[in-house]
Amino acid sequence: MRITDTADLWWKNAVVYCLDVQTYMDWNGDGVGDLEGLAQRLDHLADLGVTCLWLMPFYPTAGVDDGYDITDYYGVDPRLGSLGDLVEVIRTAKDRGMRVIADLVVNHTSDQHPWFRSARASTDSPYRDFYVWRGDEPPDTSDQVVFPDQEDSIWERTEETGEWYLHKFYKTQPDLNVANPLVRDEIAKVMGYWLQLGLDGFRVDAVPFLLETAGIDEAEAARFPDPHEYLHALRAFLGRRTGAGVLLGEVNLPYEEQVRFFGGGDGDELTMQFDFTTMQQTYLSLARADAGPLAASLAARPEISPDSQWGTFVRNHDELTLDKLSDDERAEVFAAFGPDEAMQVYDRGLIRRLPPMMAGDPRRVRMVYSLLFSLPGTPVLFYGEEIGMGEDLSAGSRLAVRTPMQWTSGPNGGFSDAPADQLTRPVVAGGYAPEFVNVADQRRDPDSLLAFMKLLIRRYRECPELGWGGFQLLDQPHPAVLAHLCTWDDGALVAVHNLGAEPLSVPFTVPGCNAGHRLEDLLTIGSTPLADDGSVELALEGYGYRWLRVVSEDSRRLL
Ligand code: NOJ
Repeated sequence: MRITDTADLWWKNAVVYCLDVQTYMDWNGDGVGDLEGLAQRLDHLADLGVTCLWLMPFYPTAGVDDGYDITDYYGVDPRLGSLGDLVEVIRTAKDRGMRVIADLVVNHTSDQHPWFRSARASTDSPYRDFYVWRGDEPPDTSDQVVFPDQEDSIWERTEETGEWYLHKFYKTQPDLNVANPLVRDEIAKVMGYWLQLGLDGFRVDAVPFLLETAGIDEAEAARFPDPHEYLHALRAFLGRRTGAGVLLGEVNLPYEEQVRFFGGGDGDELTMQFDFTTMQQTYLSLARADAGPLAASLAARPEISPDSQWGTFVRNHDELTLDKLSDDERAEVFAAFGPDEAMQVYDRGLIRRLPPMMAGDPRRVRMVYSLLFSLPGTPVLFYGEEIGMGEDLSAGSRLAVRTPMQWTSGPNGGFSDAPADQLTRPVVAGGYAPEFVNVADQRRDPDSLLAFMKLLIRRYRECPELGWGGFQLLDQPHPAVLAHLCTWDDGALVAVHNLGAEPLSVPFTVPGCNAGHRLEDLLTIGSTPLADDGSVELALEGYGYRWLRVVSEDSRRLL
């Protein structure tokens, strides 16, 4: 491996930042964030160190699922601006060294999409087979719905033809029939269109649902025997159109199944997948102040191709799902971080942001982000995490974390000049209101969370060991501590995190090292010699963390 390889497989040590244009920055004063506003804030993102923007759906929408119910795959929601404004954003982001990906939502359309309007009107519609229909009464499918507070079946009957259509999400989101080659052609055309406009790939929504053929007529499903061949074909198409585009897939499945979505050892399906398992085990570890679950999860990660990558995260735009934990484990996390029912959703997740869950303890918040950036993988941030924004529980459900970005301590947090009651969503009130949490104040404060995040990102980018390298847990005696070693080429980095409140002294041995090596702190100034057998004992504060570069006498690496 050479350092120059990081320019080819750029996603292996990217810093991804997810944002929703409508809540990011309103430039025309109508209360809705817009593309012009985003363009104004690209320098903030570049300064933060972001290398890849992930834009949540910006397409024309029926507005039921916050943009994930698309009515036109080739447009921009007029409230946000025009296609031209989008191209300006993409171009400017690239100038600032950032790539741009966007949500590809092709498991379903909105029921207002012209394809579905036509399809539902008649069984003779040329678009009828774009969707999945059944003529007989469906059985009880209430256990298969994704949003159990809103739906009780994955089938919905239409008056027009008396048949039922499939929808795994809201009933206003009919599932596309991916077994139909015409649908697959349309999906490729949509991808090609946005790639041609300059996108560097997609965050692919709901991938397992997209590939699933259950419910599809048997004869039709037989023409589509291996959905993974299709995923492979999509990746190949992306490669032909872009060379270095990525598919970052949402696949919330156990590791064994995720391997298939990477394309196994060939790594020729999804380029990246979010690591939902490690995210959930991290929260269990935090709740228990015991690094065990997190360590076990990292150790259980399957081998993937060197081209593939895990997307690591501690928060995203949806509920913080805890669906992979046992009922008892989930109850522990609920008790620790979201005990009120108003903080929970779908019996499986929390709707809070990280800082309030950590009771606002800055040591703990920083330790969690230090941990996130030190884990093997590519970190994915959700907007506002860089300044420690809180949530608005009164917005309810998943909207609680989708509040306007807080830029200043002024009216509407500087998000918009519109009257507060015209904002796309209210700004967070209380202890996490813009008065206390905003970009402008933190930019000027070297001790702010924002400054700390910039440091973490800078170090993460300087340490390809983290995104690229081998990973090893280091033995040490404290349950509350995670100590790990990442190696790449001749580089090695040790990260040590204390998930507990008590200060500790942590003895461990760095394999293959001796008194000719030392550990150089990367987040602060400090140098620690190693003993002849590579052993060392480090002090850690309560919720303390250290990143240490392993340096040999002849190392030429810049410190
Ligand atoms: C997953 C997205 O993350 C979520 O926000 C959306 O509601 C569903 N897919 C349906 O598109």
